[in-house]
Amino acid sequence: MPAIVILGAQWGDEGKGKATDQLATTDTIDYVVRTSGGHNAGHTIVVNGEKYATHLLPSGILTPGATSVIANGVVVSPEALFRELDGLIERGVDVADLVVSANAHVIASYHSTIDKVSERFLGKNQIGTTGRGIGPAYADKVNRVGIRVADLFDEGILRQKVEAALDLRNHLLTKVYNRRAVEVEAIVAELTSYAERLRPMVADTSLLLNQALDRGETVLFEGAQATMLDVDHGTYPFVTSSNPVAGGVCVGAGVGPTRIDRVIGVIKAYTTRVGSGPFPTELFDADGEALQRIGGEIGVSTGRTRRCGWYDAVIARYSARVNGLTEFFLTKLDVLDSFERIPVCVGYEVDGQRVDEMPMTQTEFHHATPVYEYFDGWKSDISGCRSFGELPANAQTYVKALEEMSGAKFWGIGVGPGREQTIVVHG
Ligand code: GDP
Ligand code: IMO
Ligand code: MG
Repeated sequence: MPAIVILGAQWGDEGKGKATDQLATTDTIDYVVRTSGGHNAGHTIVVNGEKYATHLLPSGILTPGATSVIANGVVVSPEALFRELDGLIERGVDVADLVVSANAHVIASYHSTIDKVSERFLGKNQIGTTGRGIGPAYADKVNRVGIRVADLFDEGILRQKVEAALDLRNHLLTKVYNRRAVEVEAIVAELTSYAERLRPMVADTSLLLNQALDRGETVLFEGAQATMLDVDHGTYPFVTSSNPVAGGVCVGAGVGPTRIDRVIGVIKAYTTRVGSGPFPTELFDADGEALQRIGGEIGVSTGRTRRCGWYDAVIARYSARVNGLTEFFLTKLDVLDSFERIPVCVGYEVDGQRVDEMPMTQTEFHHATPVYEYFDGWKSDISGCRSFGELPANAQTYVKALEEMSGAKFWGIGVGPGREQTIVVHG
């Protein structure tokens, strides 16, 4: 029984929630695990026409029988966690099986304050973060002044840690950003108010997951964010502050790389991006507007309109490489139903030179213009297709061409947001 990784192969919002749900309904999944990021994620699952959005929780929380795990690599806002849990409980979802790592770092209110003021400070250079405090919480972690979940259960230790964390932060807030200092006691009170409800959920999740794998159970690691938002491998500095790539899963869960059996990259049949940063195939014309409208490309977490462009095979190949993908899950093919002609970026031109791989430097990537190959559209509704053979010939040609140029086989194809709207190609 395998350990499976599902991750984003582009700039996020590829349909990781749907892919996770798809796997959880076709295979028996014992654990669904988040290993990085926080409530900056927004994953949509549509079950029997009912729409659910998960942020900090893995979408596996909707899978009966699976245990949901928030592992050590995640940054946890207790406020966001309980808000999300309460929202699901209200809708009748059983959320009893949730385990949170004692080592996960905590997002407190000052992290989102700092996230917002530092974005404002950056002016036109801002990243376009979700404002959820993700970057400041990871910065504290690396700076060794972070607060971990386990610290919430010992008020004396918590107070010491909050003091250490706020010491430098308050200098910054008052002297650089011209804001009021944050009170230590207010933060201690804020965080201890969640301790009692959190305590029964907390465990050593690395031990839990490794023991599950030893017993032959199936563990699904549900990625958040995406390869091109990775702090090491993405379009730095226009990235998130964690490692959403496959390697980050091992660090974020305390599971060794030798235990991972499959790595599935979720990729849209076109490309979107929220926030700032380079995006070679971005469209500023009627086609871009059509992708945005037909694809419903509005952020689940922040409600921001997503930038849209054509499929970029250079990015697909790069994702296949840095993640060691065993397969892709292609989503939103149905969004292309009405297009006459569909361009696909097969390479770039950078300062007069043709390149087929991701350029080495950010400057070159900023200069990259797409080299397109054109495919004929299929001009029909594919949302009811349930096998590859049912797809119109032009759609089959498009998918086969993408598969050939992207560096890994296509395990499945999404033809609509619903749980049943999936074609499994390589079962
Ligand atoms: P995630 O963050 O990667 O989980 O993706 P999001 O949930 O942010 O965005 C993906 C959006 O596309 C959601 O609204 C999904 O319901 C929707 N979606 C996923 N797969 C498909 C598909 O194959 N076709 C269509 N039309 N929508 C899809
Ligand atoms: P899912 O899991 C799309 C983007 C933000 C911003 C940058 C940094 O739903 O795919 P952050 O708040 O993380 O410091 O913001 O990363 N971003 C996402 N974009 N989908 C996401 O998550 C994202 N999470 C962060 O828009 O550009
Ligand atoms: Mg999303």
